[in-house]
Amino acid sequence: MGASTVLLCGVVLIHLFASQTDAQRPRSPWKTLSGDAPRVISRGGFSGLFPDSSLDAYNFALQTSVADAILWCDVQLTKDGAGICFPDLNMSNASTIEVVYPKGQKTYPVNGVPTQGWFTVHFSLKDLNKVYLIRGILSRSDRFDGNGYTISTVQTVNTELKPRGLWLNVQHDAFYAQNNLSMSNFLISASKNVSIDYISSPEVNFFTKIAGRFGHNGPVFVFRFLEKETFEPTTNRSYGSILSNLTFVKTFASGILVPKSYVLPLDDKQYLLPSTSLVQDAHKAGLEVFVSGFANDVDIAHDYSYDPVSEYLSFVDNGNFSVDGVLSDFPISASASVECFSHLRRNATKQVDFLVISKNGGSGDYPGCTDLAYDKAIRDGADVIDCPVQMSRDGKPFCSHSIDLSNITNIAQTSFAQRSTHVPEISSNDGIYTFSLTWSEIQSLIPAISNPYRVYNMFRNPNEKKSGKLILLSEFLKLAKHSTSLSGVLISVEVSSPTS
Ligand SMILES: *[C@@H]1O[C@H](CO)[C@@H](O)[C@H](O)[C@H]1NC(C)=O
Ligand SMILES: *[C@@H]1O[C@H](CO)[C@@H](O)[C@H](O)[C@H]1NC(C)=O
Ligand SMILES: *[C@@H]1O[C@H](CO)[C@@H](O)[C@H](O)[C@H]1NC(C)=O
Ligand SMILES: *[C@@H]1O[C@H](CO)[C@@H](O)[C@H](O)[C@H]1NC(C)=O
Ligand SMILES: *[C@@H]1O[C@H](CO)[C@@H](O)[C@H](O)[C@H]1NC(C)=O
Ligand SMILES: *[C@@H]1O[C@H](CO)[C@@H](O)[C@H](O)[C@H]1NC(C)=O
Ligand SMILES: *[C@@H]1O[C@H](CO)[C@@H](O)[C@H](O)[C@H]1NC(C)=O
Ligand SMILES: *[C@@H]1O[C@H](CO)[C@@H](O)[C@H](O)[C@H]1NC(C)=O
Ligand SMILES: *[C@@H]1O[C@H](CO)[C@@H](O)[C@H](O)[C@H]1NC(C)=O
Repeated sequence: MGASTVLLCGVVLIHLFASQTDAQRPRSPWKTLSGDAPRVISRGGFSGLFPDSSLDAYNFALQTSVADAILWCDVQLTKDGAGICFPDLNMSNASTIEVVYPKGQKTYPVNGVPTQGWFTVHFSLKDLNKVYLIRGILSRSDRFDGNGYTISTVQTVNTELKPRGLWLNVQHDAFYAQNNLSMSNFLISASKNVSIDYISSPEVNFFTKIAGRFGHNGPVFVFRFLEKETFEPTTNRSYGSILSNLTFVKTFASGILVPKSYVLPLDDKQYLLPSTSLVQDAHKAGLEVFVSGFANDVDIAHDYSYDPVSEYLSFVDNGNFSVDGVLSDFPISASASVECFSHLRRNATKQVDFLVISKNGGSGDYPGCTDLAYDKAIRDGADVIDCPVQMSRDGKPFCSHSIDLSNITNIAQTSFAQRSTHVPEISSNDGIYTFSLTWSEIQSLIPAISNPYRVYNMFRNPNEKKSGKLILLSEFLKLAKHSTSLSGVLISVEVSSPTS
């Protein structure tokens, strides 16, 4: 009697407990495979700013990222079998090796192709003591190149930084095997005192070699896809063809790492095409999906208006799927996207009361001061839109950020080019000024988007580079008055009396 009462109580309690947790547990907002937030993986640390794989790069990544950020190390082996973190097996890029060992260049076959370079396998760990890390991408800051950052082993990165997550990428297992160095032996021995959370590689055979060699709590194996037309070196199949059989990939890996374009392809003008079903397909096959290629300074689709946060959000918070992690050179932006900006959409409440004021309207997306630029600024949530006022020959005030029409329109290619004049009060060069054309003549011009970073080959929204029309000050004011979201306008007058 006593025993069955106790049993009954037990059943009731369990039942209550179960229904309570079901009700309390919010449904995960993340469409990742696990339902957890996507992981932020810093490629070589904060490599967008510091030399790739330097301890400062790793340290800065941890300081500026989500708490569980993962440090990514590209593992290379030295002649004496030490595992170092370095972005490539060719050390001439991103280190001072050419200066330290001017005669160290050798030719080795890499995936069957004879290749020249300063290879890690030609140097011992001790040889590399004198070699320093520098930036590999020359458009980035050289500010830290003189800091004498040394090359670290995997063990050093682990002991110095104690990351919550460590990801080792093995880009070239077959190459090291040809040189009688075993990446798998290195990894097994390193795992004795380093906690390795993820291991990735673009080589299928590598996974066959390491399968079963780690204990029960071993690393997650991630198969890395290279460009679709590239041939995987150990199966002689293209990555595109391997992609068509995710069941096969699942036999040796539990995740995949793909370039951004596998998920959100681009057309040849760098605009987004519709997303592929890769993330959903891989999740159905039980594979996590990690995506590479995120950086704040290169390779971003025009659709994002150079805003890296909106790019991350389109991979992690698009309503249909979320990738399971992003590999970034600027992990601070990935972290902010995941932790601060996801699931907000347009419902975010203002945290600080300051004004967002447009510059020539949404002039990063459309030719400045055109109707389309102003519409865009208003849609994007500007509080104040601005009109730099210029005057036409017939005395009509209109919005234009340059008194010289040749800088903002196609006028140089029209017959109005003859109206070029020299006005020393404005410029030592000749210009085709607003006060030399009537408003109706100005209206016939085609506006041009401004491209201040042309020298870096960074162009703005090419599809809309000639879109929109210049508008009169009165039209600008009418537009502002009809908007419900603006709190004001900014009128600026740069040149009030250009001619006598
Ligand atoms: C190694 O880097 C140097 C300089 O960046 C380059 O000339 C050479 O082609 C590279 N070799 C390989 C194997 O990538
Ligand atoms: C170094 O390698 C990176 C990545 O492959 C490449 O983008 C960069 O142009 C290379 N830099 C030099 C100086 O060769
Ligand atoms: C690797 O070892 C084999 C057998 O000992 C030897 O024949 C070969 O030359 C070695 N290769 C290299 C690159 O050292
Ligand atoms: C880890 O093991 C390696 C070789 O087994 C050893 O050289 C190294 O000192 C060890 N590191 C730590 C932190 O125990
Ligand atoms: C690899 O595949 C290509 C085309 O599928 C074929 O021409 C080539 O002979 C193959 N190479 C080897 C080593 O199997
Ligand atoms: C896909 O891979 C699985 C597992 O290796 C295999 O059984 C199957 O035949 C493959 N399917 C195709 C279409 O190649
Ligand atoms: C989500 O999926 C639907 C249906 O396939 C598609 O119409 C929509 O464009 C997708 N949205 C995004 C952001 O990918
Ligand atoms: C924004 O808030 C409205 C009203 O509260 C709600 O209906 C809508 O679903 C929210 N949108 C998003 C994307 O959260
Ligand atoms: C127009 O552009 C030229 C160079 O393209 C520049 O020197 C000049 O200052 C610009 N003029 C105005 C008024 O912005």
